[in-house]
Amino acid sequence: MRLGSNEKFLVTGGAGYVGAHTVHCLIAHGVSPQNIIVFDNLVHGHKEFLPDGVVFYQGDLLCKEDIRRVFLSHPIDAVFHFAAYAFVGESMACPGKYFENNLLGGIHLLEAMVQSGCRRIVFSSSCAVYGVPGDVAISEEIHPAPVSPYGESKLMFERILAWYHRIHKVSSISLRYFNAAGAGYGIGERHTPETHLIPLLMQAALGQREAFSIHGTDYNTRDGTCVRDFIHVGDLAAAHLNACAYLSDKQVCEIINLGSGEGQSVLQVIHLIQALTGSRIAARMAERRPGDAPVLIAGNQKAAHMIGWKPRRSLGDILESAWIWHTQEAGCHA
Ligand SMILES: NC(=O)c1ccc[n+]([C@@H]2O[C@H](COP(=O)([O-])OP(=O)(O)OC[C@H]3O[C@@H](n4cnc5c(N)ncnc54)[C@H](O)[C@@H]3O)[C@@H](O)[C@H]2O)c1
Repeated sequence: MRLGSNEKFLVTGGAGYVGAHTVHCLIAHGVSPQNIIVFDNLVHGHKEFLPDGVVFYQGDLLCKEDIRRVFLSHPIDAVFHFAAYAFVGESMACPGKYFENNLLGGIHLLEAMVQSGCRRIVFSSSCAVYGVPGDVAISEEIHPAPVSPYGESKLMFERILAWYHRIHKVSSISLRYFNAAGAGYGIGERHTPETHLIPLLMQAALGQREAFSIHGTDYNTRDGTCVRDFIHVGDLAAAHLNACAYLSDKQVCEIINLGSGEGQSVLQVIHLIQALTGSRIAARMAERRPGDAPVLIAGNQKAAHMIGWKPRRSLGDILESAWIWHTQEAGCHA
């Protein structure tokens, strides 16, 4: 599956972690930087993640005019929609902030697309739509039951996409990512605040954090800690290209999981990082967090069948690339 060489792509949230990776991946697959338009308000994005030559708009999806202007200035063929707030914990404290940004911002984008005749979108959804499912590999058929406003906002936007497909013939693929991790193209996880497992552990290994809290050690899992499915951000980026190419000649509204199909417990990841870095991580047992599922592992057959995607990098690749990036970020050398 290939993207057209003269097509123009809009990447909302393209200065963020996964979005910027996808921008680099597009260029690595032959798309000219001048055919990539990145739209980001830089609330959580980093302009320095972007390669030279891409067209950058600093704008906010909550401002209709900002996004309309982009479509008036460029004939966009397809959209990669990453822009969103993505902290589960924050969404539990500030639900309105999440519903406003992740839904209203997305609706402004869809309206601008429809007005300009652009009818192809790949959307960053999340395994957070599943809530707390059983400990089986989760297929897309499982009934979604989010347990946070963040997960709910992703599910609601998937449903909005279904209506835009029905009424306006907008074709979409919602990609439900599991745990994105790892680094490449000089881009790694730099979140403020940091809440993700692997960057927290890397910071602990570098001595930037005194201790790491394990939330829940009495789950019904192999060692009592939560089990997660980690997927390399470069593999995620590649899946976006496949999904977009798939949409080029199809009128569909689809949902696809993106995960490795394997689970690792928090304790296993700690041990692997200790072995990789040679650092001892002081782990502290802490209370369970409300809404944390014991096990989240992707069923990833649909991605293979529909868009010809399989993860290529292992957890070892994820941790090595993240370690290199974090040591560089910390200004020291491993
Ligand atoms: N990282 C993960 O593990 C993960 C897992 C599942 C889903 N996702 C989803 O993938 C997408 C990208 O995640 P990420 O980790 O790269 O997050 P990120 O915060 O690094 O990137 C999001 C980008 O969107 C921008 N943005 C937010 N609101 C905006 C607005 N109103 N207008 C313009 N720009 C706006 C931010 O500045 C940021 O650059 C998000 O939609 C997230 O919900 C991420």
